[in-house]
Order: sequence, then structure tokens, then C-alpha cells
Amino acid sequence: MCRFTSPDATGHNARVSVCFVTRALPGPALDRLAERHSTTIWPGDLPPTPQELRAQLAAVDPEALICTVSDRIDAAALDAAPHLRAIANYAVGYDNVDVAAAAARGIAVGNTPDVLTDATADLAFALLLAAARRVPEGIALVRDGGWVTWEPSRSLGAAVFGATLGIVGGGRIGTAVARRAAGFEMTVLVHSRSTELTFEELLERSDFVSLHCPLTEETRHLIDDSALSRMKSTAILINTSRGGVVDQDALARALHDAQIAGAALDVTDPEPLSADHALLRAPHLLVLPHVGSATVTAREAMTRLAVENALAALDGQPMPHPVSPPAAQVRDAS
Ligand code: DGY
Repeated sequence: MCRFTSPDATGHNARVSVCFVTRALPGPALDRLAERHSTTIWPGDLPPTPQELRAQLAAVDPEALICTVSDRIDAAALDAAPHLRAIANYAVGYDNVDVAAAAARGIAVGNTPDVLTDATADLAFALLLAAARRVPEGIALVRDGGWVTWEPSRSLGAAVFGATLGIVGGGRIGTAVARRAAGFEMTVLVHSRSTELTFEELLERSDFVSLHCPLTEETRHLIDDSALSRMKSTAILINTSRGGVVDQDALARALHDAQIAGAALDVTDPEPLSADHALLRAPHLLVLPHVGSATVTAREAMTRLAVENALAALDGQPMPHPVSPPAAQVRDAS
């Protein structure tokens, strides 16, 4: 366990609090937390299991917790940390935190918006292009010695330039994806709380459907058998939001039955997806290990925002990046 205790290096007179961070995080910002507060960082390469997390919370008894999407911060975890005052989630999405249970205990919750918008939108577009032009298949062909000649009819993919992109969720990341689509002269359709276009119409008209909504009770399995049956047989589904937005059994069926042409996922349910998971046997499927925000710039900035949230709450101030109350978490995302 990595523990720093170096209060007052910055001349702050504030009381020293106890913080627990569930993973080592990139960038220098954690040092700012450790300069002022007694900070314990989980040392594992793997996140703590729920049991380990509860045991750590009980042992460390933190007032502030910085956690990641791998940590389920439910009522049982909160019960193990009776003095907790702040949860700074190292992500823009916060479906891993029981915000209502935290609010009931007077615990502030914050996230890391904006700083990962471009990184995630870039990855959504990378997935779109890779799936449309069958990039992984081509790489595997060359690597496996299958490239014997130039083929007029091999590896024919879908045109991206000028195609129609349906974006589900009109928040920051969806809007950033739409900006990228403009460079490809795509027709962009958006479905969100504030647009008139229905979800069904978006599905029926789009060549690519890209998901940018948070995971809530309303959006869980939004992409189910019925939604997939409305999509074009040539359409490709892209998901960089949360795995639970897609009913993966329905997606596997749709891919096996060629009901849609392909899918590219950065997020799954569960995460990680084991290598022998049935979904991975579906054709025309590309899966990445939840790397939407994985650039040096974005991840270091996320550390900074999480630390800002924790420091503010420990100083008795509102978090600079608080999460919305649960009622507001519908189809507009991140
Ligand atoms: C987020 O911020 O919600 C991402 O999924 C984590 O990378």
C-alpha cells in the first residue's frame, strides 16, 4: 500500500484528512492531494475486488475517495466508510457510483467531464472507420500470410464519406463526434431529449449508429432485439458509452443473422469480457478494452479534475465538477 503523509508542504493550515485512491493514476496531480492530506493508494495492478474495497475502506476510514469505473461504489461500500464526505469518480460516467445512496449520507460526488471529450470522440471515429473499412481483418490477413494478390472483390467495406451517422445522446461527446463527421460530409442525425427525431427514425435512417448516452435505468438495453431489427442490414453499431446500453445477446444474434453489418465496441458488460465470451464469436465484431479516454493528455487531466473535486470537498467547498442528480441522467451524456 502506498501511503503519503506530507501535510502543509504548501503552507495550507487546513486540517489533514484521509484519502483513499483505488488505483495509481497518471500525471502529477495526485501529489497535490498527498501534499495536503494523508493519501493511501491501492497498490495493485488490478482494481480491488468489492470485498477488498470494503476491507480497505474500513481500514483506511477515508473522508475522500477517488475511484474508477472498475469500482462499484454501492451502499455496502459506503457503509464501510462512515466518515466519507467526497467521492471523486475518475470518469465522466458515474453509473458505478450509487449517487442516491451517497446523497442520502451527505457525500458529495464528482466526475471528470470535458477533458476526455475529444479523446473519446476520436476513438468513436476510429472504431467507425475501422469497422467500416474492415481494418482489423486486413491486418490479420497480412500477418497470417493470406495476402497473395490484389483482389478486386476482397475486403469491400462501407463508404464513410457522405454516409448517414445517427448519434444517440446529444451531450458533449456526441456533439464532438458530429464535428468529426462534418469533415466526412456525413449527414448527422441526433436523438436526445431535446431533439425531435425519434430513436426509431434514427435507427431506420442511419448507416452508422453511435451511442453516447449514459447508462441509466432508461438506457439499459436501449439497443435490444427491437432496436436492432429497425437498423439497416448494412448498418454498423458503435458503442463508446457503457456496455449495458446494448443487450449483448441481442447484438450477437443480430450479427450472426446478418441483421446488421457489424459492430465496434469499446465498452462491454461485463468488463473485462473474457476471451471465451460468446459475444466474441459473433462475426464482424470489433471490441476494444474500454480505452475511449486513454490518451496521456486526457488521463492526466482526469487525475487533475478528480483531485480538484476531492480537495474542494475536503475544504468544505462545492466540488468544481459535481455530478447531476440521478433524475437528470437520461439520454444526454457526458
Ligand atoms: C468515462 O469517463 O466515463 C470513461 O468511460 C472512462 O474512461
